[in-house]
Amino acid sequence: MIVVNEVTKEFGTRTLFDSVSVKFSPGNRYGLTGPNGAGKSTFMKILTGEIEPTNRGTIDRPRKVGVLQQDRFAYDNERIIDTVIMGNATLWNAFKERDALCEMAEPSEVQMNRLCDLETVIADENGYTAEFDAGAILRGIGIPDEQHENLMSTLPTDYKFRVLLAQALFGDPLALLLDEPTNHLDLESIHWLEDFLQIYEGTLVVISHDRHFLNSVCTHIADIDYDTIITYPGGYDDMVEQKMQARQTVETGNKDKAKKVAQLREFVARFAAGQRSSQVQSRKKEMMRLAPQELKRSNIQRPFIRFEQEKPIGREILQVKGLTKKFDDNVIFKDARFDIERGDKVAIIGRNGAGKTTLLRCLIGEIEPDAGDIKWGDSGTWSYYPQDSHSQIKPGCTALEWLMQYMVEEGNQVVRGLLGRMLFSGDESLKATEALSGGEAARLLMARMMMQKNPILIFDEPTNHLDLEAVSALAEGLSTFPGTVFVVSHDRDLISNVATRILSFTQEEGLIDFHGTYDEYLQNHKFKEFATEGRRR
Ligand SMILES: Nc1ncnc2c1ncn2[C@@H]1O[C@H](COP(=O)(O)OP(=O)(O)OP(=O)(O)O)[C@@H](O)[C@H]1O
Ligand SMILES: [Mg+2]
Repeated sequence: MIVVNEVTKEFGTRTLFDSVSVKFSPGNRYGLTGPNGAGKSTFMKILTGEIEPTNRGTIDRPRKVGVLQQDRFAYDNERIIDTVIMGNATLWNAFKERDALCEMAEPSEVQMNRLCDLETVIADENGYTAEFDAGAILRGIGIPDEQHENLMSTLPTDYKFRVLLAQALFGDPLALLLDEPTNHLDLESIHWLEDFLQIYEGTLVVISHDRHFLNSVCTHIADIDYDTIITYPGGYDDMVEQKMQARQTVETGNKDKAKKVAQLREFVARFAAGQRSSQVQSRKKEMMRLAPQELKRSNIQRPFIRFEQEKPIGREILQVKGLTKKFDDNVIFKDARFDIERGDKVAIIGRNGAGKTTLLRCLIGEIEPDAGDIKWGDSGTWSYYPQDSHSQIKPGCTALEWLMQYMVEEGNQVVRGLLGRMLFSGDESLKATEALSGGEAARLLMARMMMQKNPILIFDEPTNHLDLEAVSALAEGLSTFPGTVFVVSHDRDLISNVATRILSFTQEEGLIDFHGTYDEYLQNHKFKEFATEGRRR
């Protein structure tokens, strides 16, 4: 059980949480929701203990809490099995210190004593069965014994994620805290994670912007609504419904009241000057009593995403012939051939590790293909939105300053207007770039793309971190854009709404170049992997 008691968190003048009390009980699986920037990650960090509340509010948590690390590449030089054991930091540090002491030629008396203490710590933390325990978790998540000693760098990204999950699970934590675990996962891995979490018996708190995922995993939703957290039973859709109903009740109540008030007002107006003054007085009082209940502001906001192109360009955008790329023996694509024309909206799809990012990076010249021709049309300039979007925004300045450096000519007002449309209004635009939440960073990067007005837009998984409103705003922005779009995505809603062309990495037929929408593609290519996608979304 995690018990949060009267916790307040402020950043400068902004209050994210005002005296929030909430309980997370064992056996329940809570989705922590709220729009971008609502404070989900901040609240999660308060739960893990990484940051402190601003006031004296308290958090009671079980002794062992499993936390999912965000950086999938942080452990690349470690062995897989060690990465899992690092989930217990006390144990891991004790191991390290002990090994260092053991290697000393002539340890001092003090050091010998320390060695004894360390052995006690290791025993207390079940250190003697650590490798065995870690091995069992790894097996459970689909990594066979013969790989356990390999380096993390040998694993594809989705399996790195699994190891990090194993790290969080190491030592049987009574609570598991996951911040956006589905980002970067393909649909198959998301299914796997859903099944996996459904049998977790401790207290689960998970942040996600994926409605389908939340509906399938969660027994409760803890929704951040302005500075409070309200818990609803059920999945995401149930929460939305309950919220709507509450709103409707208030709205209907207000309508009835307005009717009554109108009648009373008429009476008062008619008799105000007459003898019925006591009746008029009581009617006036009644009118005051019937003041409409204030409707809560909705915490949902949608950015306004529109891309324009400065000047139209020729019809031929890109010609690719014989494109081949291998990493050692692993053939990513071979002899790929496709032509892209002005106005095409190309979705690049396929499972994790299939080569989607590699294809984009070959196209824009960031990596060299092994063979083949890539020919861009004249003046085909592009804006590129890379997968690790956050790292594009340098720390140490405000959002406004960051954007201004790319928009020297446009001037302050235009930039402010643009920021406003992307939901950085007023002081929000003065936020430090290193403090931006995932979704805020994504919006800021998109603001720059909107300003650049290039005729070609290239996105690598733009919907990671974005809330549902922002995803549909992006879909709108991309489908109304008169230029050409390349987008790598696992988001079926986005692909369905935007794509007119599909480049699909498949195991059966390699890279398929399909002319048509995603739904048409699904009808034509009923592979197993896509059948699952269809069922899911
Ligand atoms: N150290 C900080 N200093 C100032 N402001 C901060 C700091 N950390 C976070 N914030 C602000 O607090 C708000 C909440 O941030 P947080 O990262 O918790 O949001 P989130 O709900 O996780 O959003 P997302 O869905 O985009 O991940 C944001 O507006 C963010 O800019
Ligand atoms: Mg976050």
